[in-house]
Amino acid sequence: MRLLLIGFGTVGQGLAELLIEKRDALVRDYGLNARVVGIADMLKGSIVDPRGLPLDRVLASLAADGDLRHLSGARFEGGALDMIQTVDADAMLEATYTDIKTGQPATGHVRAALERGMHVVTTNKGPVALHYHELRRLAAAHGVRFLFEGAVMSGTPVLNLVRTTLAGSSIHEIQGILNGTTNYILTQMEAGLDYGAALAQAQALGYAEAVPDADVLGWDALAKVTILANVAFGADLRPADSPCLCITEITPAKIDEARARGQRYKLIGRVWREGEAVKAAVAPQSLDLSHPLAGVSGATNALTISTDTLGDMTIIGPGAGRRATGFSMLIDLIHRGGRP
Ligand code: HSE
Repeated sequence: MRLLLIGFGTVGQGLAELLIEKRDALVRDYGLNARVVGIADMLKGSIVDPRGLPLDRVLASLAADGDLRHLSGARFEGGALDMIQTVDADAMLEATYTDIKTGQPATGHVRAALERGMHVVTTNKGPVALHYHELRRLAAAHGVRFLFEGAVMSGTPVLNLVRTTLAGSSIHEIQGILNGTTNYILTQMEAGLDYGAALAQAQALGYAEAVPDADVLGWDALAKVTILANVAFGADLRPADSPCLCITEITPAKIDEARARGQRYKLIGRVWREGEAVKAAVAPQSLDLSHPLAGVSGATNALTISTDTLGDMTIIGPGAGRRATGFSMLIDLIHRGGRP
C-alpha cells in the first residue's frame, strides 16, 4: 500500500515511528505492506520516492536539521496539493494543522485525494466537523474510504466503537472530556501551576493544537462533539450551530472555591437527542469528586455513552499525543476494507 503523508508534525512522525516499529507485524498479521512514497509538510518541505522513502533516515535527517529536503535524491518541488495531484498512491494520510472555522487547507487535500481514487485517513477535525456527509459521499462515489478515527480521542477507538462495535444499539446521549490540553491545564492548575506554565507544558508534550486558542476557547471540543453528533447520531450539524464556553474564565480562585465545595472543574462536551432534534454543547462544569468524569486527569479523555441496550458505558483513554494519535491512523489503515 503506497502512502502519502501530508503534514509531518507530531502526528505524522508518530505514525512513521509506528510503521517502522511494527513493519513485520503489519505484514504478518494484517497483510499490510505500507510504503511511504511521499511526504509533504508546509514548513519542512516535500520529498518523494516511488520505491518507498527510508523512514528511519527521514526521521534522523529531520531530527538533525528540521528539514526534509536534505534527504538526498528525494526532493519534490511542490506543495501538498501538487503531490496529491501528481504522485500515485493508494492512500493519503492527512495530518496538517486543524482550522475549525474554514477546514482548510485540509479539506482541499481530502477532496483532491478522494477524487484521484485514494483512501483518505485523517486526524484533522476541520474537514470532518464541517463536511463529513459530503466527503463520505465523495469517497463512496470513487470506491474508496474516508476514515478519521483520530479526530476524536486520538487513538482511543471511540468512533469505531459507536459505528461498529455498538451496532444495533440506539445511542441517546454522549458526554465527556474531549480535549486533552484543557484537561491537562485544569489538572496542573489544581496542583498549583499557573495557567501560562500549564499551557506551555501541554504544548511541549504535543497535546495542544498549532494555535492553542482552539483548545482553550473550546473550539476543539466543539468540533469533536459535532463529529460525534453527525457520525453517531446521523445529524447534520456544523460547529457554529452549538453553544461553546471555554476554560479561560476558570481562575485559580474558582478552582479553590470548587475544591472547598468538594468539586472539580472539567470541560464537558455533550451530544443528546431532544425529540427529533440532535443537540450539542461544550461548557466547563464543576463536578462532584464522586462523579466518574471528575477523576479523569491530565491529557486523558473519557466519554460516557448512554444506550438503550447497555445503559451507560464509559470509555477512558488518551485524547492527544504523538504515539496515541499516530496509532489512530494505523487503526484506519488496517480497517480500510470495512464498512463505509
Ligand atoms: N489539541 C487536541 C487536544 C489534540 O488537546 O485534545 C487532540 O485532538
